[in-house]
Amino acid sequence: MIEKKKFSLKVLTSKTHKLHKDGTRRGGVEDLVVATNPKSSFAEAVKSIKTNVTFSSVEKELKTILVTSPESGDGKSFLVANLATAFAQDGKRVLIVDGDMRKGRQHEIFGIPNDKMAGYSNYILRYKSTEDMGMMAFIKPEIYVKPTQVPGVYLLPAGPTPPNPLELISSENNKKLLESFREQYDIVIIDCPPALGLSDALVMSKYADVNIVTISNAKTKIDQLEDVKKNFEKVNSKIAGVVINKAKVGGGYYSSYYADAYYSKIK
Ligand SMILES: Nc1ncnc2c1ncn2[C@@H]1O[C@H](COP(=O)(O)OP(=O)(O)OP(=O)(O)O)[C@@H](O)[C@H]1O
Ligand SMILES: [Mg+2]
Repeated sequence: MIEKKKFSLKVLTSKTHKLHKDGTRRGGVEDLVVATNPKSSFAEAVKSIKTNVTFSSVEKELKTILVTSPESGDGKSFLVANLATAFAQDGKRVLIVDGDMRKGRQHEIFGIPNDKMAGYSNYILRYKSTEDMGMMAFIKPEIYVKPTQVPGVYLLPAGPTPPNPLELISSENNKKLLESFREQYDIVIIDCPPALGLSDALVMSKYADVNIVTISNAKTKIDQLEDVKKNFEKVNSKIAGVVINKAKVGGGYYSSYYADAYYSKIK
């Protein structure tokens, strides 16, 4: 159990969004809390997280934000959808890349089909940068990137699960594709799979300006967070901050806090 008292940090957010009764069900459009309830305490929480994330990229312009967590169900996808909305409410043009090719669900949150012929996995396979295009010029970005019901938020759904997601993620094509997104959008947010047991997020961290880790207060063990940190260090990537999703499943509420410089403060 990670207590907020153990952090010498400002608690940025407060009681949030009501959880589904079963405590585990995956939300759809009802997860778009910042869009549907922009004055809620949850929306305020996400805006604080947005501000902190913005300020955590002092050395370079903030363009690409990666979100991961130790395990499944820690709230990565939920945070990504709402954080993207918060940036868009500031007038930014935001792209969500569903980088979870194994169980991506951003399309469910935004109510957009995950076209088996399109999506991120297919886009990487077929992407060529403009100079290489030639005969490939028929690849139209709009086949892959879809506008969402949230003004300013665009979504690249995960697409079909490839035999080896890591190979696609590590490819030169993926690098070029993500570089092109940097030029086309104000903010790119990548929703990644969990960082323990899978290397996808670590590989993707090379393309991100800021890496955010979401943890579940009631569930995440400090060792798991430390392991995530070590894994990032091994690939020379830094974690800019942690979003603590404090689950109180019985009562049906979660809270979120944003923390940085947290490691030494957690017991
Ligand atoms: N702060 C929160 N308030 C309310 N509900 C939340 C919160 N965070 C997550 N949830 C809910 O918890 C469930 C799991 O969240 P989510 O799918 O975002 O986790 P995840 O880390 O992306 O999991 P996976 O690794 O399996 O993709 C969803 O139903 C989501 O609606
Ligand atoms: Mg997810």
